Amino acid sequence: MTERCDLLITNVHAATMDPSLPGAYGAVEDAAVAVTGNKIVWIGPRRELPETAADLVIDGEGQWLTPGLIDCHTHLVYGGHRASEFARRLGGESYEDVARAGGGILSTVRATRAASAEELYHAAEPRLKALMSEGVTTLEIKSGYGLDLDNELKQLRVARRLAQHYPVNILTTCLAAHALPPEYDGRADEYIDLVCNEILPAVVREQLADAVDMFCENIAFSVEQCQRVISAARKLDLPVKVHAEQLASTGATKMAACAGALSVEHIEYITDEDVAAMAESGTAAVLLPGAFYTLKETRVPPVDKLRAAGVPMAISTDLNPGSCPIASLRLMMNMGCNLFGLTPAEALAGVTRSAARALGICCSRGVLRPGLRADMALWPMETPDQLAYEVGALKPAEMFLGGQHVTA
Ligand code: NIG
Ligand code: FE
Repeated sequence: MTERCDLLITNVHAATMDPSLPGAYGAVEDAAVAVTGNKIVWIGPRRELPETAADLVIDGEGQWLTPGLIDCHTHLVYGGHRASEFARRLGGESYEDVARAGGGILSTVRATRAASAEELYHAAEPRLKALMSEGVTTLEIKSGYGLDLDNELKQLRVARRLAQHYPVNILTTCLAAHALPPEYDGRADEYIDLVCNEILPAVVREQLADAVDMFCENIAFSVEQCQRVISAARKLDLPVKVHAEQLASTGATKMAACAGALSVEHIEYITDEDVAAMAESGTAAVLLPGAFYTLKETRVPPVDKLRAAGVPMAISTDLNPGSCPIASLRLMMNMGCNLFGLTPAEALAGVTRSAARALGICCSRGVLRPGLRADMALWPMETPDQLAYEVGALKPAEMFLGGQHVTA
């Protein structure tokens, strides 16, 4: 480190989440962190800090510093709401029943198509603010409620515009293969042609997506159709993520892992063979306990097997109007522990280091380490175990995005 840095935070405990440091949190007690530009340049025990001057010194008052939280799977830009489906499901109809009757995703498609970009932007703002207020500094936003060229582009442009106006990193994912739009009823293969030949190339031309996702499920697209979307994404140099095995075992996970997908998401119904394929390919698991909870699922993802195989396990909100209308990543950490059996440290890794893996950004984010971006949250707590335990009141005292102070 040079003798001068931009920002020096002292008198903090750091949950670095760096797996090369001892302990589940890679904790450094009584630490100091130096930042120059948008990067961490030094982190370690305060007593080992080299002589340095800083433009700004912050006394962390013995609080805990963590990497900024990463919500790696959201559908945050959409029109309308689906409160009436909640009542129907409480009355006994299943998520699939509602979807097959033209509700579900297609009901949000109608509302999203009818909304202007301006309306979508304003509807998305409170959701984004809710995530940011809990320490989120990076999130992913998927399209998938447009399902035609203009409306997919509209959703993705709104996501990019949010990133221009809020102090947060936003990665966008094209999920045009989310559901079959009504105008293609009975012609799923033709819709996949449209996705591969028109929607994805147009999205790439406008640089509107960082990745491509698809819903591989009996009520959505087949493994073969998803394979075609993956090939198209590959040709356009975009990484791939797959909504897989949420409602049934379909072979989606194995296919995605073999194709080198960054992540497979939901995965309640994966098999031992799928876990082995993920470990082999380095594909991350994205666990979505809020959708499991909302849909009152009973089958949990095989966390013990994923852990034993060394598969990175991310946790995310899946924030969407149908299967998880819950804008709280901290609640998801709590559910990840209580419903899926993660430890509190695994839950924090799930919204930092492993979430960065699932987004393909682990070389820049997700861990507090020299050379990585200074996206950080400072928490008034005595132990990082509180993050997965306490919901509602524990908020970050300070947040930093690329070394810049942002209002939490
Ligand atoms: O991740 N599984 C597919 N897509 C979303 C749900 C979208 C919706 O119901 O609107 C999910 O759960
Ligand atoms: Fe989703």
